[in-house]
Amino acid sequence: MVKRLKTLVMATHNKGKVEELSELLKDVCDKVVSASDMKLSEPEETEDSFEGNALIKARAAYKETGYPALADDSGLCVNALNGAPGVYSARWAGPEKNFETAMNFLDTKLAGMPDRSAHFKTVLAYIDEKGAEHIFEGQVDGNLIWPPSGEKGFGYDPIFVPEGERRTFAEMERHEKQAMSHRGKALLKFLDFLRDG
Ligand code: IMP
Repeated sequence: MVKRLKTLVMATHNKGKVEELSELLKDVCDKVVSASDMKLSEPEETEDSFEGNALIKARAAYKETGYPALADDSGLCVNALNGAPGVYSARWAGPEKNFETAMNFLDTKLAGMPDRSAHFKTVLAYIDEKGAEHIFEGQVDGNLIWPPSGEKGFGYDPIFVPEGERRTFAEMERHEKQAMSHRGKALLKFLDFLRDG
C-alpha cells in the first residue's frame, strides 16, 4: 500500500519541474506545495554534484517549513564536453533564464564535433517527516540536434532527442516525456519507496 503524505513541499522555483512532478505526486500526497507557493528563499547551489545541490534545496525547505520536502537537481550532460553543462545547466541560461542563449552557446561549443550524444540526469532528494534523507536517481540518454525544434517542455528540451525517438522532448506531450525522462524515472523510484515504506 502506498504511504500517503499529508503535505509535501516541492523544493523548487522552476515552473517546468513543478508541472512535471506535481501531477504524479498528487496520487501520493493530500497537498503538494512548491517553494514559490510558500515564498521560500532560493538557497545557493554551492555543490559540484546533483546530489549535493538537491540536498541543499531539500534541507532548506524542510528547515523552513517542517514539512517533508522533495528537491530535484538536474541537468544536461554532453559527452563531447566532458559532461558540461551538468550542474551548471541552469546557470548557462544566465540570470534571465534565457535558454535560447544557453542552447546557442552549447551549439557554438559543439561546432566541428561529430559526437552529439548527451544525457539528462536527475537526482531527487527527499527528507521525510523525521528528517531522514533519501536519494533517487534517473537518467535518459539521447542526442542533441540543431536547430531547436518544438514549443513544449522547458530548458534544453528543444534540442534533445531521446534514444529510440525522432522527436525532441519539446515536441512531445508532457505524459510522453514523463514516461521516458530522467525526472519521470527518478520519480517512479520515489513512488516505489513510498509504496514499500
Ligand atoms: P537546477 O534547477 O539547478 O536543477 O537546474 C536544472 C536545469 O537543467 C534546468 O534549468 C534546465 O536548464 C536543465 N534541465 C533539467 N531537466 C530538464 C528537462 O527535463 N528538460 C530540459 N532541461 C532540463
